[in-house]
Amino acid sequence: MSTHLVTGISELTTQSSEEARPESAENRVLDAAMIVEHGRIAWIGPAANAPAADQRTDLGGRAVLPGWVDTHTHLVFAGDRSAEFEARMAGQPYSAGGIATTVAATRAATEEQLVVNALRLRLEAARQGTTFLETKTGYGLDLESETRSAVAAAAVADVVSYLGAHVVPPGIDRRDYLDLVTGPMLAAVAPYAGFVDVFCETGAFDVEESREVLLAGRAAGLGVRVHGNQLGHSGGVALAVELGASSVDHCNHLSDADVAALADSPTVATLLPACDLSTRQPLAPARRLLDAGASIAFATNCNPGSSYTSSMAFCVATAVLQMGLTVREAVWAATRGAARTVGAELGPGAVGSLRTGGHASFQVLDAPSVSHLAYRPGVPLTVAVWKNGERLG
Ligand code: NIG
Repeated sequence: MSTHLVTGISELTTQSSEEARPESAENRVLDAAMIVEHGRIAWIGPAANAPAADQRTDLGGRAVLPGWVDTHTHLVFAGDRSAEFEARMAGQPYSAGGIATTVAATRAATEEQLVVNALRLRLEAARQGTTFLETKTGYGLDLESETRSAVAAAAVADVVSYLGAHVVPPGIDRRDYLDLVTGPMLAAVAPYAGFVDVFCETGAFDVEESREVLLAGRAAGLGVRVHGNQLGHSGGVALAVELGASSVDHCNHLSDADVAALADSPTVATLLPACDLSTRQPLAPARRLLDAGASIAFATNCNPGSSYTSSMAFCVATAVLQMGLTVREAVWAATRGAARTVGAELGPGAVGSLRTGGHASFQVLDAPSVSHLAYRPGVPLTVAVWKNGERLG
């Protein structure tokens, strides 16, 4: 394969600073160029110093940044819940109850239908700059449907989380369902999954039940993630910190003790601004978490109930315009910060950053700098996406 020189980069956001600080000057090269070879970045630096290469692409003065790393999605589902959304916008509260609607439709779908729908959303995300994506099971909730969901998830996503513990489905005793989730269902899904997840919330699973599910998943070799403190003070954040989870997601309702615990732990708080807006929950306290020293990530939470968007750019713009972050803090959290939640922040498999030797997975904005992501909200600025050195689309 030949070497490919990419020039005409007005601003290259690398996210490669060793100190892992979003505002670090090391994370940005102005008037930059990159050489891509064998799917990886062979050289990166000021355009004036660029070596020669076999091919050349001139981006004409556009910004380049890492592809988005979307580490919280639920793409494996069937059906539509727009009526529930409309009712919510007319004043009905969001609750875990709507999940049953999607479970019924998902159980009725074939594996092919599930893959086709998930792939549609995966491609929709890719066109908008997402080059790494996690997705979950969690709308099957019986042995056969969860296994089918795991197969579909593995077909479309870079990493799969097992969410058999989404809610207790109708028609089964609670204790029997926990035995299924921590026993035969876990054994069937674990070969497809990298993480176990649980919805720790009123109406879903309490802290003791969640701990049981997470420890069983960990014993099966899976990393740990938690849906916590979305609709109230569920205890999910404290549990995630106690277990050293990679991520606790949602985090809308946090006590001072939760914030302090996150700041003292390696657990990343993955915030889901599109979900907060779509469920009319208070926006997660991103500024408070960052100021306390906690690590944060942003993700879309793309799913048919609480957040039907695949747009990471929308999440970044919301984080800046509504949650008090700078553009660079928000972009960091949607790339390298998110990579941390799946153990892919550093090393040869790293995603969410652009560095010599790393994956050539990046997006090009039709704008001179990343600030336009929030300065021009709602405008589809991503005009080209490269994954592992190949241009998509
Ligand atoms: O992350 N919170 C739990 N699960 C999903 C949404 C589930 C649904 O409403 O379908 C979420 O928001």
